[in-house]
Amino acid sequence: MLTTTLGSLTLRNPVLSASGTFGSGWEGRLFADLRQVGALVSKTVTVAPRPGNPPPRIHETASGMLNSIGLENHGADHFLAETLPRMRELAADSGVRVIVNIGGESVGEFVQLAERFSAAGVDALEVNLSCPNVQEGRLLFSTDPRLTEAAVRAVKRAASVPVFAKLSPNVTDIVAIARAAEQGGADGLTAINTLIGMAIDWRRRRPVLARGIGGLSGPAIKPVALRMVYECARSVRIPVIGVGGVRSAQDVLEFVCAGASAVQVGTAQFTDPALMVRIVGELRTLLAAAGTTIRALRGSALPGAAPQELRA
Ligand code: FUM
Repeated sequence: MLTTTLGSLTLRNPVLSASGTFGSGWEGRLFADLRQVGALVSKTVTVAPRPGNPPPRIHETASGMLNSIGLENHGADHFLAETLPRMRELAADSGVRVIVNIGGESVGEFVQLAERFSAAGVDALEVNLSCPNVQEGRLLFSTDPRLTEAAVRAVKRAASVPVFAKLSPNVTDIVAIARAAEQGGADGLTAINTLIGMAIDWRRRRPVLARGIGGLSGPAIKPVALRMVYECARSVRIPVIGVGGVRSAQDVLEFVCAGASAVQVGTAQFTDPALMVRIVGELRTLLAAAGTTIRALRGSALPGAAPQELRA
């Protein structure tokens, strides 16, 4: 009932953690049985360690959150030695997939990361072409179809596992970028990363975040994410992973009807680290009551989808 596929990768259910909102899952294990989720997606890993941006770099907004973390992480060596074994331990014997999100400052760095993590036997790679909080060019990749295609093509050549391209909403036409990623050989798309925003402290007459701008996530962006998943799903043949503002099983099913094959839970986990697991249970209940499955519902709101009767 909950099984879904992302190209050659089968997931026991469509509920994944969103990169950067759940670490590697290691702390989350204290709050919920993570062997119930479909996949754990790591925070972005870069070739070298990154200290991230100076604080303040998180700010709560109405129905959302701005972040300007700047891809803080310990780098690939540390990830391979310390973090990946922990993710594997969390996933052991459960069918939970381990997906590593990679970030490069150049195509060469993406290739290096793809080679190393493929060799380490991760289940899939998510290519972060869309972080808005660094200046070295990641956002640039996902705002230009040619750069997107070239980066994805190079990663695909280097990788021996499925490759999902994470797209930015900060573009006029996400379909052009989605098609470019497909053209480059992506096995799937993740849509969407955060929307660029800012907050101002009027008494200080300064932006709240030290870097000025940040990425908006949370329920405020769900309608935008749904629209972009819908547009991507009706324009490409590869699977789409939806992400943006998910807080409930109902939200997951909305993304599935819009064409998503799987859905990531992000910002809501900061206040409710057991949410993913609860959503899996709620999905089971809702789908059983409606007499349907994730596969049957997928894309059912897209133009031309066959009509289907739900029980309830
Ligand atoms: O700043 C950050 O670490 C966020 C990354 C992202 O949105 O991809």
